[in-house]
Amino acid sequence: MQFYDVIEKRTSIKKFKNTNISKDKVDRMITAAMMAPSWKNQTSYKFIIIDDENKKNELANAIANKTDEASQSIKDAPIVAIVVANPNESGMVNEKEYYLVDSAIAMEHFILAATEEGYGTCWIGAFDENSVKNALDIPKDYKVIAMTPVGEAQENKEHYDKKDIRDYVFINSWNKSYTKKSNSQYKN
Ligand SMILES: Cc1cc2nc3c(=O)[nH]c(=O)nc-3n(C[C@H](O)[C@H](O)[C@H](O)COP(=O)(O)O)c2cc1C
Repeated sequence: MQFYDVIEKRTSIKKFKNTNISKDKVDRMITAAMMAPSWKNQTSYKFIIIDDENKKNELANAIANKTDEASQSIKDAPIVAIVVANPNESGMVNEKEYYLVDSAIAMEHFILAATEEGYGTCWIGAFDENSVKNALDIPKDYKVIAMTPVGEAQENKEHYDKKDIRDYVFINSWNKSYTKKSNSQYKN
């Protein structure tokens, strides 16, 4: 896929077929994640790939709202990817904790690579952290940042309406709206 097609294709998917994902494809997604920039290249995060059914069930039970589709999606998808990070292995500037940034960029790389490979994903942030740590034996000094199911989508989802660029993008100073050429698209 072309890059902008990948951007367009990625939406949050929570219904999955249980078809297997080949090891080659998982390897490529992980390699793409690990290409992400990180604070001083310290790579404060680690990924855990879960394909064990019992572990997936434990993770599904850790989702904040167990009746939510997100919990079911963790059970249904063939794999789940989790990113965890150690705050002591990244920087902090003006109270901005960069382990969160490191992890978010890497996870988004992973998610876009999964999209390129033809799989659906959904960033899930609402879970009981201690339950996830217990289920996967994650050390105390790591924070669990996010997880995503990965698998062949069983639903077609369009993008939700995204925000008006004029309200969210400024040029040169605050509140000076950036305006696009009226016919410009990100895709040619
Ligand atoms: C930081 C973050 C946390 C999120 N947590 C959850 C979550 O716990 N459960 C869920 O179903 N979706 C979660 N999402 C997915 C968002 O709801 C979704 O990205 C948003 O509605 C936009 O839809 P789209 O991804 O299809 O563009 C999260 C997304 C982000 C970036």
